[in-house]
Amino acid sequence: MCGIVGYVGSKSADNILLNGLKRLEYRGYDSAGMAIVEDGHISTRRAKGRVTELEQILAEQPLKSTMGIAHTRWATHGKPSVKNAHPHVDASGRLALVHNGIIENHRSIRSLLEGKGIAFQSDTDTESLVQLIGYFYKESGDLTGSLQRALRDVQGTFGIALICADQPGRIIGARRGSPLIVGVGDGEFVIASDGSAIVEHTSQVIFLKDNEMVELSDGRYEISTMDAEPIQAQVDTLELTLEEIEIGSHEHYMHKEIFEQPQSLANCLAGRLDLQAGEVVLGGLSEVQREIANCKRVLLFACGTAWHAGLVGEYLFEELSFTPAEVEYSSELRYRNPIIEEGTIGIVLSQSGETADSLAALREIKRKGATVFGIVNVVGSSIARETDAGVYLHVGPEIGVASTKAFTAQVAVLTMMAIDMGRRRYLSHARAEELLKELHQIPGKVEKVLALEDQIRKITAKYVDRNNWLYLGRGVNYPVALEGALKLKEISYIHAEGMPAAEMKHGPIALIDEDMPVVVVAPKDHTYDKVLSNIEEVHTRQGRIIAIATEGDTRLSELAEEVIYVPQTSPLLSPLVTTIPLQLMAYHAALMRGQNVDKPRNLAKSVTVE
Ligand code: G6P
Repeated sequence: MCGIVGYVGSKSADNILLNGLKRLEYRGYDSAGMAIVEDGHISTRRAKGRVTELEQILAEQPLKSTMGIAHTRWATHGKPSVKNAHPHVDASGRLALVHNGIIENHRSIRSLLEGKGIAFQSDTDTESLVQLIGYFYKESGDLTGSLQRALRDVQGTFGIALICADQPGRIIGARRGSPLIVGVGDGEFVIASDGSAIVEHTSQVIFLKDNEMVELSDGRYEISTMDAEPIQAQVDTLELTLEEIEIGSHEHYMHKEIFEQPQSLANCLAGRLDLQAGEVVLGGLSEVQREIANCKRVLLFACGTAWHAGLVGEYLFEELSFTPAEVEYSSELRYRNPIIEEGTIGIVLSQSGETADSLAALREIKRKGATVFGIVNVVGSSIARETDAGVYLHVGPEIGVASTKAFTAQVAVLTMMAIDMGRRRYLSHARAEELLKELHQIPGKVEKVLALEDQIRKITAKYVDRNNWLYLGRGVNYPVALEGALKLKEISYIHAEGMPAAEMKHGPIALIDEDMPVVVVAPKDHTYDKVLSNIEEVHTRQGRIIAIATEGDTRLSELAEEVIYVPQTSPLLSPLVTTIPLQLMAYHAALMRGQNVDKPRNLAKSVTVE
């Protein structure tokens, strides 16, 4: 949440920073701002709303410099407004700061400084930090020392970039809990919350670790701890290409990412399925074979869409690995007292690898002695680095705020992990081989579902004016129902509930009338007959049934207003195909309602606050 970017070098900074903000806008878009040092003083431009608003202001009142910092905000403390937009400047006007994270003790810092006569200009937590640095700086004149002192006093999380009017050509960055990456160019640096703001300038990067800071000036970088201990940093190569983050011929990133799924799933599976041997090859788990063999319980945890994938994982591990498995919301796990016995493997799922609740839960259960594996998309992200081992999704950057291709890849990775663990137990070679062959065919089947876009769009158009939807599924398709409902509500703002099909009769059935679309995920599996009974119950109450069915099914068309047929696959793998029509329905519903598909209100792609 919130994106920060800074540039120092010999080029004009404004466009580099603006483009960086556009790349980072998925992290929040409540306001945007930029600050530079010119003629010995700080100049800022700030705007409420999207980066394009800031762009317009800059067109009229340009900021010209070869250095600067910029920010795109997802509001936590202080409503979206110009005064709350970053960069924030201290009382002397000599320092400007951009910040991603939350300063938890901002109230006490603020009242302390207000007591000393410092007047605050905004309602943000961030301003307390820049005012505190400014307060120490006024006393000492030592910028780095003042920052270090202030960071010792603040509680909470931060990824920051700081500039000072007295030291043009210098940016200081620091992180604790929020990501920060330094792009190392030829005599220039780009510092940013993620690689997408850096990749068009350089692929050489340093991933700052927690409690590290970096000083960028005179074409040199210096990394140290916050206690001024120098650190020999490793320069990595960014695994990201410009093409991957361009929208191409699609109107929206979400559409691009939905349609990438045949390829992204193929990439995710590539080199990992040994069809002959009936085995899975997961390089990232090669060092933890003993832990997998001794595993007695799997504890999955995640947030949002990744949690839905985790719920599919619960079924997969029980069914294929014969191992007790449960999924927990990261935010709940960390505040419970989870009992971690010997043989517990934690699995954290996160597209971004930066979700604050998941990171905190990971640390908590590691502290309690669990081995934790990550299923992460962003290479080198905090969760990827802090887990004991893991499997990357390899689906390329996901930019649309509503997660699509990451979900299907998370389910694919969980399937591979469950088969891998199962083969050390009772999963037969024949069953594993059959599942792996099916898995191998999934990208082609997803392609077939995508070809139904036109039909799905027409069905969606018939119901798009309805304000309440139900999504039902059983077994592995219960999480798919949850995910379908989440997709619809997050981008079209239509109220939708997902639930296990059988639970409907314990309450929600009271809502059903002829106005309510009820999406039922009903592929042919061992729950099919029961789901059919649930569909009858909806039909009797005149609910409008939209069924997701297996090709060749003849019974559903008698009860459902609409049937979308997906290719047959192994029941356990069916979420990989049944999810696709629900993604497309949500996408088209949002478009038809005139909503901003890629940047839904109030949401951010990467939630780096707790
Ligand atoms: C946010 C996003 C969701 C995502 C969730 C978890 O809420 O809007 O799309 O599923 O965070 O994100 P992660 O990066 O940990 O998968």
